[in-house]
Amino acid sequence: MKIAFGCDHAGIDIKDKLISFIKSLGHEVIDCGTNSKDSCDYPDFALKVSQNIISKSADKGILICGTGIGMSIAANKVKGIRAAVCWSKETAQLIAQHNNANIMCAGARFASPDDICLWIKTFLETEFEQRHIKRINKITQIEQQN
Ligand code: RB5
Repeated sequence: MKIAFGCDHAGIDIKDKLISFIKSLGHEVIDCGTNSKDSCDYPDFALKVSQNIISKSADKGILICGTGIGMSIAANKVKGIRAAVCWSKETAQLIAQHNNANIMCAGARFASPDDICLWIKTFLETEFEQRHIKRINKITQIEQQN
C-alpha cells in the first residue's frame, strides 16, 4: 500500500523509526513532513496527509502529534476522512475493523515508539468488517448534510 505519513514537532524524534518500520512491512511511504524539530502547526500536516488520501495518491495515513488528538480533529474536517486516535493494539485493530478509519493517529508523548509501530502494523493489516457499513454510511450522511 501507499501510506501518507505526517507528524508535528512532537513526533519528529520518532518519525524516522516509524517510516523505516512502515517500509519494512513492504509499503511505500509518502513523507508529508514535518522535517525539523522547530515548533509547527499540526493541522498543516493533517491536511497534507488527508489530501493524499482523498486524491487517492495514498491508501491510508498515519499522523503523529503529542496526543494524536489535534491531528485527528484537523484531519476529520476533510470530507471522506475517518481519522481515529488509538492507544493500544486493540484500539488500532478496532479503528480499522469497526470504524473503517483511513488515518491512524497516535500520541508520541504518551506511547513508546515500539508500541506505536505495533499499532501501525495492526492498523495496516486489519480489514474493515462489512457488518459495520450501515454506521459508516450514517457518518458519511452527516458529513454530506451538515
Ligand atoms: C504540540 O505541542 C501539541 O499541542 C500537539 O503535538 C498535539 O498534541 C495537539 O493535539
